[in-house]
Amino acid sequence: MLELRNIKKKFNPGTASETIALDNVNLTLKEGDFITVIGGNGAGKSTLMNIIAGSIKPDSGMVLLDDEDVSLVSEHKKAQYFGRVFQDPMVGTAADMTVIENLALAFGRGQRRSLFKWSYRKEDVEYFTSELKTLDLGLENKLYQKVGLLSGGQRQALTLLMATIRHHPSPRQIKKDYVRFSAGDKNFLKEEIDQAFNKIIEEYNASKKEIESNTSLSKEEKKLKLKEIKGVRDSSFRSYDVTKPVLLLDEHTAALDPKTAEKVLETTDRIVKENQLTTIMITHNMKDAIKYGNRLIMMSKGRVVADIKGEEKQKLTIEKLLDMFVTNSKNDMLADSAIFGD
Ligand SMILES: Nc1ncnc2c1ncn2[C@@H]1O[C@H](COP(=O)(O)OP(=O)(O)O)[C@@H](O)[C@H]1O
Ligand SMILES: [Mg+2]
Repeated sequence: MLELRNIKKKFNPGTASETIALDNVNLTLKEGDFITVIGGNGAGKSTLMNIIAGSIKPDSGMVLLDDEDVSLVSEHKKAQYFGRVFQDPMVGTAADMTVIENLALAFGRGQRRSLFKWSYRKEDVEYFTSELKTLDLGLENKLYQKVGLLSGGQRQALTLLMATIRHHPSPRQIKKDYVRFSAGDKNFLKEEIDQAFNKIIEEYNASKKEIESNTSLSKEEKKLKLKEIKGVRDSSFRSYDVTKPVLLLDEHTAALDPKTAEKVLETTDRIVKENQLTTIMITHNMKDAIKYGNRLIMMSKGRVVADIKGEEKQKLTIEKLLDMFVTNSKNDMLADSAIFGD
């Protein structure tokens, strides 16, 4: 779904400070891939992400999104395709605005109906509140507080939510987009999505009936269970959303204390899984790079030097990663000495 072809990028070309940031990078992401990226300082990780998001243009090469060349799409338009979180908690949220204003702004982006108005719909406030609650940072009690007063961890978690929350279209919209944006015969697509949605609704109705007629459950238990199956239903609907953003995380927990960082990472993982988001996460923490995602990429000197997936990724250890790091730095030194003729 996302493909980088022969991407090259030099900074300050032709000067004494010329830097090759990316040296012919090729990378193909599958829908739903969660890739962690590690590599030393200056390896080209952030440059890679900036090129994907369109904030930097490559010198040569192509970025393809669903087989379409997006290198020339404006950054503003491209913002709809990507949700980004940076290292600095000050970036990504508006400090002078309240938590709910920030969320509403993000939520409305890229959708026809804007929620950015003085009063909020009750269901939206409820939705924001329940999402904030899952962050477990007490933000659900700070809806009307200015974001500038929050801690770094709270702001980062909020940014994460904002990067992903806007894509919450109605089932009707999901169906429409599916037919509109998927490749293939429109009639066939329509039939396909109708059938899939009917099946989801049937399953939901069957579970609902079962819960409602279960006499051994208390009223409260029933309510909880009903809410649970509604969540499953909505997440099933969302799995057909073809307008989901690709999530780009650039060391988004690096500025947080370890405990908060872990919390934000767990939230990241949950959001990614729930929405089946295609994700790239840069991290300097090898443990996190191993723990999260289904694929790991190591970068060195502007190149992808290792790409570990599936079972091999599951079997990775910090020792193995360190070994690879050392081997690569040795190769780099060999390459350097070849250049300098020592
Ligand atoms: N805007 C820029 N101007 C000049 N050099 C840059 C710029 N951005 C990055 N670089 C250089 O490109 C290389 C790759 O940087 P970067 O992608 O930020 O690495 P990483 O994120 O892996 O630490 C580094 O040598 C860095 O100094
Ligand atoms: Mg970086």
